[in-house]
Amino acid sequence: MRKPFIAGNWKMNMDSASSVALAAGLAKELENVETVDVAVCPPFVYTQSVSAALSASNIAVGAQDVYFEGKGAFTGEISCDMLKDTGCTYVLAGHSERRHVIGETDELINQKVTAAIDSGLLPILCVGELLEERQAEKTTEVVAEQVKKGLAGLCNERVQAVTIAYEPVWAIGTGLTATPEQAQEVHAMIRGLLAELYDEDIAQTLRIQYGGSAKPGNTAELMAQPDVDGLLVGGASLKVEDFAAMVKTVA
Ligand code: PGA
Repeated sequence: MRKPFIAGNWKMNMDSASSVALAAGLAKELENVETVDVAVCPPFVYTQSVSAALSASNIAVGAQDVYFEGKGAFTGEISCDMLKDTGCTYVLAGHSERRHVIGETDELINQKVTAAIDSGLLPILCVGELLEERQAEKTTEVVAEQVKKGLAGLCNERVQAVTIAYEPVWAIGTGLTATPEQAQEVHAMIRGLLAELYDEDIAQTLRIQYGGSAKPGNTAELMAQPDVDGLLVGGASLKVEDFAAMVKTVA
């Protein structure tokens, strides 16, 4: 069975005091939760202090992005080893805001996923269609392409480090959530694709999170879908009560 995995993506929010307070609040609220994997992804500059605040907890820390090169003249970028050094276990790759606001390509995202695995980080590969792509009935095509290109070159063994997050772009930060049926349909498609690209065992092992206006009120119905293995939570991960309530619902 796949262990549920709930991750909070804090995006470009919080400051040094509030990020530590949020982490400490979650550590307290979730201290007895063992049946769900939980992670938070603070901005780069707070990963170290948040890791310290969570050191005695079972909540992991992730980063929101990474650069694929090991070190050198890449002004402004952060390497996998730097993330590990500040306590990160996970890293997001290809979040829709990086694809559509910053302009990241599938090729760059694949380099990030690959570098993360090589260094021992666990990447969360984010995929999802734009509203116009859904309206043009291109969801399957777009998401399948992002999954294939994001995982390109990964062998059966290395791909097992990956979590996939399906996040329909039209549902992110908009208050519009995919219906549980819409989420399930895409998750099942992704799992079928993983079976084709790898094998049935891997397809059954990899976790696929849903993201896009996930909140306490829709957690149970989303998580009741057979192929929804967890959530990637933006807005609702910024409040101890909301994020803790979601984790507890799943636990
Ligand atoms: P949201 O963001 O929950 O605020 O919609 C989700 C995400 O972008 O990961």
